[in-house]
Amino acid sequence: MQRFNVAELLQSENYLQEIIIKGWVRTFRSNRFIALNDGSTIKNIQCVINFENTPEDILKRITTGAALSIKGTLVESQGKGQTVEVQVSDIEILGDSNPDEYPIQPKKHSLEFLRENAHLRGRTNTFGAVMRVRSALTFAIHQYFVSRGFYNLHTPIITGSDAEGAGEMFRVSTLDQKNPPLNDAGEIDYSKDFFGKETNLTVSGQLEAETYAMALGKVYTFGPTFRAENSNTSRHLAEFWMIEPEVAFNDLDANMDLSEDFIKEVIKYVLENCKDDLAFLEQRLIQEDKSKPANQRSEMALLEKLHFVIDNNFKRVTYTEAFDILRNSKPNKKKKFKYIINEWGADLQSEHERFLVEKHFKCPVILFDYPANIKAFYMRLNDDGKTVRAMDVLFPGIGEIVGGSQREERFDVLKEKIDALGIDEKELWWYLDTRKFGTAVHSGFGLGFERLVQFATGMGNIRDVIPFPRAPQSAEF
Ligand code: 4AD
Ligand code: MG
Repeated sequence: MQRFNVAELLQSENYLQEIIIKGWVRTFRSNRFIALNDGSTIKNIQCVINFENTPEDILKRITTGAALSIKGTLVESQGKGQTVEVQVSDIEILGDSNPDEYPIQPKKHSLEFLRENAHLRGRTNTFGAVMRVRSALTFAIHQYFVSRGFYNLHTPIITGSDAEGAGEMFRVSTLDQKNPPLNDAGEIDYSKDFFGKETNLTVSGQLEAETYAMALGKVYTFGPTFRAENSNTSRHLAEFWMIEPEVAFNDLDANMDLSEDFIKEVIKYVLENCKDDLAFLEQRLIQEDKSKPANQRSEMALLEKLHFVIDNNFKRVTYTEAFDILRNSKPNKKKKFKYIINEWGADLQSEHERFLVEKHFKCPVILFDYPANIKAFYMRLNDDGKTVRAMDVLFPGIGEIVGGSQREERFDVLKEKIDALGIDEKELWWYLDTRKFGTAVHSGFGLGFERLVQFATGMGNIRDVIPFPRAPQSAEF
């Protein structure tokens, strides 16, 4: 007898076939109908047992959450809602699940409650769907780059440099925290630490990726990224995954083209390959919307929103144009923004980004040519001497989903910038070397993977699109 998974059986027309299926009970009705799920699809398979032939002690142990192995015959279903079902000939209880203790009952649980039970939430329809879409997106991303001649690059997780210069890093150290070695000045002596210097968890693989773009031409990273920013928002994690392509000889226009095409293609992939999960998530959002006041409901259903992104060009706007739009906007004049825009050079907050995307342009926007002083040191300076070739892709409901730039490839300009910012050259000598030996125009960007998963699934909180979220005061599991 062959073992199949639920997804295979639901597509099978091989009736009267003897099969084995293993999975977890979602519901058990009328001492007869087991809805079994094994994670292969959002759908359950109905397994119909013969009450008379099933011992009572087995019947009692068929409870929500229990793991079963079922032997039976695949038949055309008599009931509504499914085409096939399994006529059970034998049941083995692989693992009991005490109904008085199992937290995931067949009813609606709040996302907050499920976050506290993150080790079990994968067994709900919502989290099963989200994690399958997440996995499909991962595959689509690798496929996108590999099929276009990019090489996947593993950049280090432990680093000695602060790529973004924001200083929001987690220290990696094996020094005795209670009694660290001190130098003559009374400061912690990191030369005695494991690596002989200060090291941290990486905030970006970009700087290392740049060196390999100057060797392999087109590379991309897809790895864990760590930021110790104390932002308790629905869009920030302390540990998240970032995709960072880096391409030799690409200028900013080519970089914008790549980011737009990339996002569209991977969304297309999930639309084609995650139909059941997306249909469920769309319904979930429609239900959720019903409990919201009218002005907070989504303007588009999930699938419509995904198609909208694929079918429309992203609007490309300079910072200066966006600044003018914002300064003259109603919420700015009526002081509805928390941060009022009046001086060129101000950093844009998420309220401004969302105004541009959701109210003004009503489509994804790529903002570019930002003021140099609000962006990282490695971005290429424009001829105006005050803006850099930076770009941010802004999405409805999400805000910034991509940040990238054309890199400063001129040794002198880069060195001047590093000196002006007081960055220790000893940290970045190898990065400067790439500008000494065969330097060339190159560009890249970083896409926050969880923000993409949020967009594709419609989940409002970033903590619900990663299996085990890491955020301030939260590292259970
Ligand atoms: O804009 P960021 O900081 O850019 C970089 O790190 C560049 N080195 C990328 C590059 O050019 N190779 O981060 C890139 C993206 C953001 O647009 C956002 O989507 C995501 O990473 N991101 C976060 N996602 C979740 N939680 C956080 N704390 C995030 N910080 C950034
Ligand atoms: Mg950014």
